[in-house]
Amino acid sequence: MEIVHTIAEVRQHVAQARQAGKTIGFVPTMGALHVGHGALVEAASKGSDYVVVSIFVNPLQFGPSEDLERYPRNLEADAQFCAERGAHLIFAPSNKEMYPREMATSVTVDALTNTLCGVSRPGHFRGVATVVTKLFNIVQPDFAYFGQKDAQQLAVIRRMVADLNIPVQVESVPTVREADGLALSSRNAYLSPAERRAAVVLYQALQAAMARLAAGERNADALRDFLREAISREPLARIDYAEVVDAESLQPVSSVERDVLLAVAVFFGKTRLIDNMLFTM
Ligand code: PAJ
Repeated sequence: MEIVHTIAEVRQHVAQARQAGKTIGFVPTMGALHVGHGALVEAASKGSDYVVVSIFVNPLQFGPSEDLERYPRNLEADAQFCAERGAHLIFAPSNKEMYPREMATSVTVDALTNTLCGVSRPGHFRGVATVVTKLFNIVQPDFAYFGQKDAQQLAVIRRMVADLNIPVQVESVPTVREADGLALSSRNAYLSPAERRAAVVLYQALQAAMARLAAGERNADALRDFLREAISREPLARIDYAEVVDAESLQPVSSVERDVLLAVAVFFGKTRLIDNMLFTM
């Protein structure tokens, strides 16, 4: 496995792999890799011949008061982690390599971004869509892998790829969780021991709401209240949102008539965690 830092080197390596008749799989990440990212790399290794992982903490997708500066970075450990899971190339560009001058161009996905994280993180999905478009153009993969953990991001990327006819097949990977149910996230590292224990409330509230759905509850407002109440019972939790939305449009629904996504974002201290579960009819 090789680690490269420039766009020219990525293009060279990918061109070689293509010449050898290989399919290209791509896993975009911001590093601080954990077993959740690992599942994406493993899926890519199974699904394609040559696997590229990008590690880039993208400043465009962080708000002014967010955690860009303190976001965990550890390239060596990340590279080792990817090598063990079958990656062939790590692309770890500098900010200057990705953004040599101020961007005059951005990619905005209008639908899907006026709800959930789009409300509390204005500009976030524009930053994500723009960097992922750049990365797709740099790597030109056949397959790209994204986690269900970031369900809205996945939906935004799928819509962008369809709307702009980007020649890549987007594959999704189920959320990987800790033994107690907490979804793995690079941001879990910020939690104090007490916050870490409290954070399991996301999973427990979602599970309990899923059980209600399975038992026939179709009143989305009641489900929303139930979710909020379940989370509020944890004193360290401060709800950003707890929503029941249409699985496709991500718009809030009043009754459950089609597939819905239960989606939550909750602060523990300064750390904001998200999680979701999909209920299919
Ligand atoms: P990052 O947060 O590093 O996540 C990279 C990928 O790993 C995303 O597709 C995310 O959904 C997936 N992932 C994270 N935790 C997961 C878990 N517990 N189970 C399964 N998959 C998980 O998402 C980003 O980076 C950035 O926005 C990026 C797409 C790289 C653009 O900068």
